[in-house]
Amino acid sequence: NKGDFPHYMLKEIYEQTETIQDAMRGRLSREEATSKLGGLEMTNAELRSVERIILTGCGTASHAAMVGEYIIEELAHVPTEVEFASEFRYRNMPLPKDSLVFVISQSGETADTLAALRESQRKGHRTLGVCNNVASTIARESDGGVYMHAGPEIGVAATKSFTSQVTILTLIGLLLGRIRHMSTTEGLRIIDELEAIPAKVAKILEQTDHIKKIAEKYSGAHSMMFLGRQFNYPVALEGALKMKEISYIHASGHPSAELKHGVIALISADVPSVFIAPDDSVFEKNVSNIEEVRARKGPIISIATEGNTKIEKVSDDVIFIPPCPDFLSPILTSIPLQLLAYHTAVTLGCDVDKPRNLAKSVTVE
Ligand code: M6R
Repeated sequence: NKGDFPHYMLKEIYEQTETIQDAMRGRLSREEATSKLGGLEMTNAELRSVERIILTGCGTASHAAMVGEYIIEELAHVPTEVEFASEFRYRNMPLPKDSLVFVISQSGETADTLAALRESQRKGHRTLGVCNNVASTIARESDGGVYMHAGPEIGVAATKSFTSQVTILTLIGLLLGRIRHMSTTEGLRIIDELEAIPAKVAKILEQTDHIKKIAEKYSGAHSMMFLGRQFNYPVALEGALKMKEISYIHASGHPSAELKHGVIALISADVPSVFIAPDDSVFEKNVSNIEEVRARKGPIISIATEGNTKIEKVSDDVIFIPPCPDFLSPILTSIPLQLLAYHTAVTLGCDVDKPRNLAKSVTVE
């Protein structure tokens, strides 16, 4: 049921104030300044002996995994790697004995992800699921895991499942950090910041009309660039995927600094660039990359932090997000990009919920 929404995708984008909360519900302990993830079915001693983490999935889930790599390394200092599930199943990656593998899948039925799960288990690694569908094959076959509790996602373009996955990966980072080196004070600060996220999401959603105008302005583009650094590099990939999937505009995501290594050749007055440039440790670096694009007359749409006046001077259009710590910014920056893709596709008259050539769950290899 779409309720008052014209499309499932829009409804699911709006549900994120709730679904992010649902991903955390009952899982945060102020008393111990950490997260509680009983579904992992691992003792603290077992979790402490984890030497390496592998995150795998397809499409949007692989982008959430890439954000998770940055988050887990930042919060827990555990070496983390991401591999596409389709590559993992054939790659035969050498892994230390104490590796922990997470397979991430909204549907829990993606063929490549399921095959990665089975291959990982065959090699003897503890393999956990991050799934939304509790009745799915991946949920059943994994050695434990964390459910998203996001409710059904009907729109083919994954939206709320991405922010749920990133929230859960943050809880995993917090848990692993707290049993290693992280202080109580730091743990509590992270809990406060996590709990503040849903209200910040609501503030972003209020800007839908502003985002719609930007979408209309650039909907004639034949190609778009999405650029970000650090935690927001995977968000650039995700923003580009959303745009391609539902509006059929060619889009590509890159780490901002890779521009000068080739991508900049594509920049011209009719190729807009979306820069994900919140107030983080690499903000100034992003601004230099924006200047490089401006010098080639490329239009700039920036996703930036409220109150940043510098960004307005170098951008044609800006969408603001509330301030937050660097590692949580992907949850916020991904939302304007979902809305940008949505409004662009609607402007172009595309079937947003059922884009051509795509199925919600890819159960063939
Ligand atoms: O159900 P899953 O999370 O395993 O699905 C993985 C991908 O097929 C999925 O994220 C796909 O990329 C979406 N259409 C992206 O919007």
